[in-house]
Amino acid sequence: MSSTTTRRLRSQKWFDDPAHADMTALYVERFMNYGLTREELQSGRPIIGIAQTGNDLTPCNRHHIELAQRTKAGIRDAGGIPMEFPVHPLAEQSRRPTAALDRNLAYLGLVEVLHGYPLDGVVLTTGCDKTTPACLMAAATVDLPAIVLSGGPMLDGWYQGKRVGSGTVIWHARNLLAAGEIDYEGFMELTVAASPSIGHCNTMGTALSMNSLAEALGMSLPGCASIPAAYRERGQMAYATGKRIVELVREDVRPSKILTREAFENAIVVASALGASTNCPPHLIAIARHMGIELSLDDWQRLGEDVPLLANCMPAGEYLGEGFHRAGGVPAVLRQLHAAGSVHGECVTVSGRTIAQIASAAPDADGDVIRRFDEPLKQRAGFIVLTGNFFDSAIMKMSVVGDAFRKTYLSEPGAENAFEARAIVFDGPEDYHARINDPSLAIDEHCILVIRGCGTVGYPGSAEVVNMAPPAALVKRGIDSLPCMGDGRQSGTSASPSILNMSPEAAVGGGLALLRTGDRVRVDLNARRVDVLVDEAELARRRGEATLQVPPSQTPWQEIYRQFVGQLSTGGCLEPATLYLKVVETHGDP
Ligand code: FES
Ligand code: MG
Repeated sequence: MSSTTTRRLRSQKWFDDPAHADMTALYVERFMNYGLTREELQSGRPIIGIAQTGNDLTPCNRHHIELAQRTKAGIRDAGGIPMEFPVHPLAEQSRRPTAALDRNLAYLGLVEVLHGYPLDGVVLTTGCDKTTPACLMAAATVDLPAIVLSGGPMLDGWYQGKRVGSGTVIWHARNLLAAGEIDYEGFMELTVAASPSIGHCNTMGTALSMNSLAEALGMSLPGCASIPAAYRERGQMAYATGKRIVELVREDVRPSKILTREAFENAIVVASALGASTNCPPHLIAIARHMGIELSLDDWQRLGEDVPLLANCMPAGEYLGEGFHRAGGVPAVLRQLHAAGSVHGECVTVSGRTIAQIASAAPDADGDVIRRFDEPLKQRAGFIVLTGNFFDSAIMKMSVVGDAFRKTYLSEPGAENAFEARAIVFDGPEDYHARINDPSLAIDEHCILVIRGCGTVGYPGSAEVVNMAPPAALVKRGIDSLPCMGDGRQSGTSASPSILNMSPEAAVGGGLALLRTGDRVRVDLNARRVDVLVDEAELARRRGEATLQVPPSQTPWQEIYRQFVGQLSTGGCLEPATLYLKVVETHGDP
């Protein structure tokens, strides 16, 4: 790749177009009002956007406000001119009804900014869960040179001498509270201990997973994902990333050169080896579709299931972001996978190096935080894709199917990896909270908790609620988890072995709407099937009855979102948006 070019840059159509002097003057003069000079704007230097996801409403990414100064320094030192602009806030832990509703909104907004303003390239500041897919989806749609700068995880959380991971601690703490072992104050103290510094969740939740996948895809510099937000290396990575985006513009390296089918296949394998979040399949599929690549759940099943678990991070393992980073982060995992022939080494990354080159320069596995390929934490630890007689697809994260679950539910004589359970059905999270402790449901260890009305349309955005806690009475007896399933998602920080993202969802006529409390459900993990043991005539009769009521939209965006969104199985994309590929090349500049 040549390091310089005399090609006219896109931004020069705004800033240096003598044939349209009146418009050029208009564009240039207003950018000068805060001190930029004509010399800078008309020098043919790349104009680099910094898509700023940090703000006071998004604590996980807020430090990007300061990091942007280092990114700008890198851009300037490489000869570019930085222009920072805001991305719609995406705060996983506080946006109601759910941050997932806004992934596609932030995506749409960013597409318009990248298309409509004088930008030659962009630094995507990522961190909290939905910020990474939203930014990558937009960069894919526009196909402007882009690079990911992760914000990095928080430092490890500690409480009474033990590591506590963000999110993951909540699921543990709520059981302690239900069992009466801690009170409200103790609950608050324990959960807050998981957040000791700036940064995003320190567990291998959706944030660290998706930033790791951005790196595995080749969209960030090697090692970027895991550097804790508070480490000095994070600022240095911001500087290097700023420098590199200017070179990517000069070399005209666009996302379409990096985000190939092989790169997505690599990301699936890495996700499986990391014990990554259950939100990764829909997000990765969405990014691929906006790049014009039809990635599907079949690809996850085909490429992911047999991959061993190598990263010993919560929720599937015991460490957090700091340990993962010290052990070598994503490059060290790539080294194991590449040596085993599990990833495509020829894939090019924004660093200019291939995956094979990055893997060979990475540290060897320490055997503890990052395991060797032939000595994993768990064999066959990827996601499995299930189907059944009342839905088309659902996913289950095998890396969190623990011994307790196996012993309790998968030990039916003659039916290895299968069990039957009595369904307890809830219509959305409010119904679950209202009735879970209702003694008339007689919930015991032979039940499966079912939740519906929680998909992209039913609970606009799709709710992270499937990992339902058992009734308090059961928790007090020491049963702190039950099998769960539903058309919603669950938090990436949860270790619950739930059956998730059932598509089509109940709200669009999926068969989950036909289930009734008391139905027998058979789960067979070997056959990858979940069937309700109700005969077809009875299901047909139920089909004729009233369907699931979904709550009305509360805002204009919820209404628009519901009209155009697809199912989780195909990425939860705004379907018309997937028809716009490489917009600058295909549809032109504005
Ligand atoms: Fe923002 Fe987990 S809540 S990363
Ligand atoms: Mg989440």
